[in-house]
Amino acid sequence: MSQGGSPAAAAPPAVDGLRVLVTGGSGFIGRHVVRALRERGATVRVLDLVAHPDPSVDLVQGDLADPAVRAAGLEGGCDAVVHLAAVTSVLRSLEQPDLTFATNVQATHGLLEDARRAGARALVFASTNAVCGPMEGPAIDEGARLRPLTPYGSTKAAGEMLMWAYTASYGLRCAYLRLTNVYGPGMQAKDSIVARLMRCVRLGTTFEIYGDGTQVRDYVHAHDVVDAALLALCDERWQGPTVIGSGRSLSVLEVVEQVRATTGAPLAVRHGPPKPGEMPAVIVDNSRACAQGWSPRYDFATGVAGVWEEWRTLDIEGAVALPGGAGAAAGGAAGNASGSGAGDASGAPAGTEREPVRIRP
Ligand SMILES: NC(=O)c1ccc[n+]([C@@H]2O[C@H](COP(=O)([O-])OP(=O)(O)OC[C@H]3O[C@@H](n4cnc5c(N)ncnc54)[C@H](O)[C@@H]3O)[C@@H](O)[C@H]2O)c1
Repeated sequence: MSQGGSPAAAAPPAVDGLRVLVTGGSGFIGRHVVRALRERGATVRVLDLVAHPDPSVDLVQGDLADPAVRAAGLEGGCDAVVHLAAVTSVLRSLEQPDLTFATNVQATHGLLEDARRAGARALVFASTNAVCGPMEGPAIDEGARLRPLTPYGSTKAAGEMLMWAYTASYGLRCAYLRLTNVYGPGMQAKDSIVARLMRCVRLGTTFEIYGDGTQVRDYVHAHDVVDAALLALCDERWQGPTVIGSGRSLSVLEVVEQVRATTGAPLAVRHGPPKPGEMPAVIVDNSRACAQGWSPRYDFATGVAGVWEEWRTLDIEGAVALPGGAGAAAGGAAGNASGSGAGDASGAPAGTEREPVRIRP
């Protein structure tokens, strides 16, 4: 691991010439995946509700649930799919379980069916450690029981089950990456803990910690997620579930301390009441991923330094809090997060991922 900048990547898997459809390719993780695939010579098409910031990217803009949109995405043939499009917010999944099911399950089924008919041989799926409920052993590994606590977790688990059957029945190799809390460059629109902390630092607002701050979560860098996705696309060993996390969990207090150390900001915090039902710990065992050729390149200090590099020069004056959004951007002490703030990964029953806060790039 290098001490500054981006740690060197391992030898890139051979994706040259591969035709890859990336659903959700305009999102936070998707933009990293699309860039990496294009840099390595893959022919990439993005299917997303929203435009991709790079106009040179081949884009089908629309809803994955719409068969015509999927047909356009797969037109001309497709070798492999990276499936990232989803309702990603735990809170939204609780408020809109029907939409969550339609997007995360029904549209996923449609994609599997259309992709195999189009000749795709592999599909990589962004799943989550939230498919497992509360920890039942010292660490969550691939053998953990599926006991999701939210519509978000359950629909991701259902997606995994659909894929298991598509691999068994049709030979479409599906690899599901059970991601922990993903952070990294390009997360300005996210509302997970690292982004919230960055907003508090830039705006001078107070960060609210739910409870005593000793609850622990695993944080994995977006570039490490990309490494896993590329390996999973190309390496036949990647099939079924694989836990993708750093393997080193941090408490909220440790995360806050790291952000203070990185930014040099005092970063005021206050403690609020604990969130009912929040899991005290998410600790993962990433040994299967490591046995399959992956290893996390970023420790948290290195990763946060890269995130801060981006945020420190961001034009944050134009920040606008969206309705129902994290008020952190509007000032005050609403930059609350409990460490499970990445509602899409924490497994916490009441997720805290809200609508994003718009910040001018
Ligand atoms: N970020 C994390 O911490 C994390 C953790 C675990 C799992 N994941 C999973 O990784 C994937 C990517 O997450 P992200 O953080 O980049 O999320 P994101 O919200 O930034 O990106 C998701 C993208 O999917 C698109 N999308 C949503 N519904 C769609 C639909 N019906 N049709 C077409 N496009 C649609 C959105 O427009 C967006 O661009 C998601 O499946 C998420 O559940 C993320």
